[in-house]
Amino acid sequence: NLRDQVKAWHNQGLTVGMIPTMGALHHGHLSLIKQTQQLVDKVVVSIFVNPKQFGPNEDFDKYPRQEAEDVKKLEQVSADLLYAPDPEEIYPGGFLTNVSVRKITEGLCAAKRPGHFDGVTTVVTKLLLQCQPDVAIFGEKDFQQYVVLKRLTDDLDIPTKVICGTLIRDEDGLATSSRNIYLTPEERKIALEIPRTLKKIVSEVETGTLPLQVSLDQGVQHLLNSGFSEVQYLEIRQSDNLE
Ligand code: PAF
Repeated sequence: NLRDQVKAWHNQGLTVGMIPTMGALHHGHLSLIKQTQQLVDKVVVSIFVNPKQFGPNEDFDKYPRQEAEDVKKLEQVSADLLYAPDPEEIYPGGFLTNVSVRKITEGLCAAKRPGHFDGVTTVVTKLLLQCQPDVAIFGEKDFQQYVVLKRLTDDLDIPTKVICGTLIRDEDGLATSSRNIYLTPEERKIALEIPRTLKKIVSEVETGTLPLQVSLDQGVQHLLNSGFSEVQYLEIRQSDNLE
């Protein structure tokens, strides 16, 4: 049904954009929708909490699911179609395929989440082939994910242009994320040290005031002193290939 609708739009000469999400939509997602509406005629949003990208001890069970509220938000921003498949539509019995991108899926967010990116690339391959949109947009907050998905569509000649959507912050400066609801007010205050630390490092890199490694080490130390129990990574990489 999804493909028929997209085909009908294409036959009318209309362009189609897709925003894959896991739901619990916030204004970061809504901004991605608005950015996509500037680029294409019709916007499809998918909501699917993808079990394959969660590790065994991660938050799959408690990940926020609020489809009724999501539908209202999608109506408010005039999204054209919501695709919310059941797990069997994505992973029917007998499913054996894994889509994997090498090298750029190592380290950074993958260091503590083995298998995470295989889950993402497998589900996004399916979503793009099911929908066949002209463009798909992924938020800048998950920058490694964006680079991986761009590589995936280039490597496999998937005819969807992958676009990086601008990062959106809440008023206090924290990047929007469905998982921010897990934070207590006290933890949220501590989390604000992430954007502050990143800004400081960016300025040190731009002005060349400190060797990169010193700047990073100081950043990690500052986060630990601010109340983080652990800093999983703080690194400087090239944006095109993550080297
Ligand atoms: O960024 C997300 O919400 C997910 O990783 C995505 C791209 C929807 C794949 O499940």
